Amino acid sequence: MEYKTLQRAREYEKENGGKIPASDRPVFHMTPYVGWTNDPNGFSYYGGKYHLFYQYNPYDTRWDSMHWGHVVSEDMVKWEYLPAALAPEDEYDSFGCFSGTAMELPDGKHYIIYTGVHKTEDGKEYQQQCIAIGDGTEYHKYEKNPVLTSKDLPKGLSPYDFRDPKVFRDEDGMFRCVVGGKDEKGLGELLLYASSDGFDWHFENIFIANDGEYGCMWECPDFFMMGESAVLLTSPQDMVAKGLDFHSGNGTLCQIGSYDIEGKQFLRHSAQTIDHGIDFYAPQTLKAPDGRRIMIAWMQNWDTCNTSGFRAMPWFGQMTVARELSLKDGKLYQMPVRELENYRKDKIGYKDVEVGGKVTLHGIEGRCLDVIIKVRPADRENVFKRFTMYFAKDASHSSRINFFPGDNVFETDRRLSGSRRANIQQRSCSVRDLGGEIELRVIMDRFSVEVFINGGEQAMTTAILTDPSACEICFECDGKAIMDITKYTLGAEE
Ligand code: FRU
Repeated sequence: MEYKTLQRAREYEKENGGKIPASDRPVFHMTPYVGWTNDPNGFSYYGGKYHLFYQYNPYDTRWDSMHWGHVVSEDMVKWEYLPAALAPEDEYDSFGCFSGTAMELPDGKHYIIYTGVHKTEDGKEYQQQCIAIGDGTEYHKYEKNPVLTSKDLPKGLSPYDFRDPKVFRDEDGMFRCVVGGKDEKGLGELLLYASSDGFDWHFENIFIANDGEYGCMWECPDFFMMGESAVLLTSPQDMVAKGLDFHSGNGTLCQIGSYDIEGKQFLRHSAQTIDHGIDFYAPQTLKAPDGRRIMIAWMQNWDTCNTSGFRAMPWFGQMTVARELSLKDGKLYQMPVRELENYRKDKIGYKDVEVGGKVTLHGIEGRCLDVIIKVRPADRENVFKRFTMYFAKDASHSSRINFFPGDNVFETDRRLSGSRRANIQQRSCSVRDLGGEIELRVIMDRFSVEVFINGGEQAMTTAILTDPSACEICFECDGKAIMDITKYTLGAEE
């Protein structure tokens, strides 16, 4: 079959993608070749490379007509653009090829399962699961699509909210997939489907139902085992804030528990936010050939998309750095993939710097950086009240991170970054009480900052759209702190 919409998108990409100068993009964060992106899709290792697809509207920097864009990488840091992989083409996905996942089939083919959306004349959007098979560049939609429709939903679940399949090969050899659904009360349920070949699917069970504690619909499930523990990531809509643990709106949720393969259920033992920053949503994971579990997410959030007053961007939406996941004491930890360290250059370090009032350090500046900071109180009996790092700073702009040891609170704040919008510009999370000590890894690119706190126990990710020429950094303390700092420039900073 001839894919006309895909062809048109590829031609458009060819003509327009190259027009965006590299200096207008982040150095090491993936942005759409042209136009808009939201969720990462089909994050998988295939044919010796990491493949990342993305929700994609090539034609404009706003959400519409979802295609799947496609990039590949040898190291999950440097991404190479491939032609768009999927386009809304057939009746069943004419309104969009929504999110989904990918894996390698036993016969060596690359398998994609995604949500095809079909809009009827009365304006209703039916969501159904579809398959495409490919070789790493060209993907062909399965002739029997859609493979899961409203007929495969348990009674009472909405045919308009049935999306984002996460496929995996299970211990018993079966293909299984977890798909988001919505019940009559508007709450999310994750549904478990099984197949012996990956093509012919049947409903097995409700994997887990949302009792309303964590938002409503659970978008973009991702499920995997880490040792004996089962980990379930989702992106809940309509969350209600709970202290500093969860924030309102579109959030992220990591549930850790066990997988009852006989009972075909997920049993939750604990729950946490995945990333406490302002811009993080819809993470997906893969298992790298060396066994590491790697996560990547949309470095944006539906509640914070309205930032265009900042700066006319030739693209919209970026992905986070890829992150290595681990479990410690029943909690999810994350740190940037170790491959990022290969891009470090121009090391500058200072030890035992006394920070009281404002301090700048020679050579500590820039916008594409990997910075490691260890802070401790100068006087353990009289711990400082606040430690601040300002960055993306010039005479009239700055963003900052704050640590308040008295409350064990960490905060990211971009109120002075130049935004012309009144959406959320500040967010806080609780951190471990270490008597005024804190360890930070701060990853900055031209349009973002990702902070990993105390070895990755918390992460805070925020898009910073201040012009990249704002590159001063300084530190400030209310009280006295002692700081060790190591800074590397990352990649090619023009
Ligand atoms: C999450 C989401 C998914 C959907 C996609 C559509 O950000 O709403 O649930 O598949 O975006 O672009």
